[in-house]
Amino acid sequence: MSHSAEPRPMTSRRSNALKGEALVPGDKSISHRALILGALAVGETRITGLLEGEDVLDTAKAMRAFGAQVERLGEGEWSVHGVGVGGFSEPEGVIDCGNSGTGVRLIMGAMATTAITATFTGDASLSRRPMARVTDPLAEFGAEITAREGGRLPITIRGAEDPVPLRYRTPVASAQIKSAVLLAGLNAPGETVVIEAEPTRDHSERMLAGFGARIRAETTAEGHVITLTGRPELRAQPVAVPRDPSSAAFPVAAALIVPGSGIRVPGISRNPTRDGLYVTLQEMGADIAFENPREEGGEPVADLVVRHGPLKGVTVPAERAASMIDEFPILSVIAAFAEGPTVMNGVAELRVKESDRIDAMARGLEANGVRVEETRDSMTVHGMARVPGGGTAASHLDHRIAMSFLVLGLATEHPVGIDDGAPIATSFPDFLPLMRKLGADLG
Ligand code: S3P
Repeated sequence: MSHSAEPRPMTSRRSNALKGEALVPGDKSISHRALILGALAVGETRITGLLEGEDVLDTAKAMRAFGAQVERLGEGEWSVHGVGVGGFSEPEGVIDCGNSGTGVRLIMGAMATTAITATFTGDASLSRRPMARVTDPLAEFGAEITAREGGRLPITIRGAEDPVPLRYRTPVASAQIKSAVLLAGLNAPGETVVIEAEPTRDHSERMLAGFGARIRAETTAEGHVITLTGRPELRAQPVAVPRDPSSAAFPVAAALIVPGSGIRVPGISRNPTRDGLYVTLQEMGADIAFENPREEGGEPVADLVVRHGPLKGVTVPAERAASMIDEFPILSVIAAFAEGPTVMNGVAELRVKESDRIDAMARGLEANGVRVEETRDSMTVHGMARVPGGGTAASHLDHRIAMSFLVLGLATEHPVGIDDGAPIATSFPDFLPLMRKLGADLG
């Protein structure tokens, strides 16, 4: 797992035009959910295209620990025999979620309304991240929770014996909080309601509906309101995981900033709750075409065709932040090559991701000659015609920070180093070979 791996310094160098096809891995968010809902369903769920990154493998292990039968049949092909809603058994050992906020928060939700006890832990990055945002609503269902100071991991949850359904307004835009509450609501009688100010990624809602739960989403005067009827029988379903738009963002960014590039990135999810980066790139004048739009596994997908060209800086509105929350690190790299400043508003949540991503990007970009301004909840990157590079960035156990700086170095005057590329394996195990095949000089 990444948290025990040796640090792996890496370097990227100015590269010739990138060409070819980039087959990026399966969507991380959907992969976690497929394993968890498969474990809560009755019957066998066959999953294809599962992301086999460390984060998701930790969730697979956790589902086994709670009593589901989880088997790998082939590359990206998995079988889950579920135990039914409320059927989790008590795990014998501690549940180690490694680097994964999604894994730990969703699994805590999924077990919190079953009368079993489990203890959760994670790596140094995950152990610093706020968990009270999830354990607070889980306590309202009737679960008993013991956490380290500040509500942090390790956490022990004694699931509610007699859960009560919840009506909950999320305090920050977070699909992880929403999903944890919905998963807990599965084993509470009656209706569990989540209200969010801005819609966040809706993979849980889509997949719950696909597995036969009664769930509806509507926009009312209160906001975006999701209502789930508890105690459904979830029916096992085949799940075809589309390719991850957040992982696609790295080769897409590389093609946009390396002169002469033209690449194809097939089968990318175009779910509107995940689409903010692509909307922003089009505003910047990026040459991106979305070919063959179709539906796969209940999600809209398309093939992206991306060509290098001039880019201009833009202001990203705060309301768009939730739909591109994982893409700000790589957007800040693209922005360094645009004409004029790019302002990113409403991004305070970046400070509690795998690292403080505003700080990590600002320091790393500055080390490579780029001017950055930050406030608590915004970041401005000043683009320049020639980006010097020549610096080393700290990746802070954060896969997206590591990949962002490796992409930066493909178009800077001098090479860019990172102190540790090992975390890349959490979400994009084949990042290096995939980028090298396009012609990128990195390793
Ligand atoms: C995710 C939600 C987002 C995102 C994370 C995956 C999910 O986190 O950053 O990578 O799968 O629900 P928050 O809900 O904390 O914003």
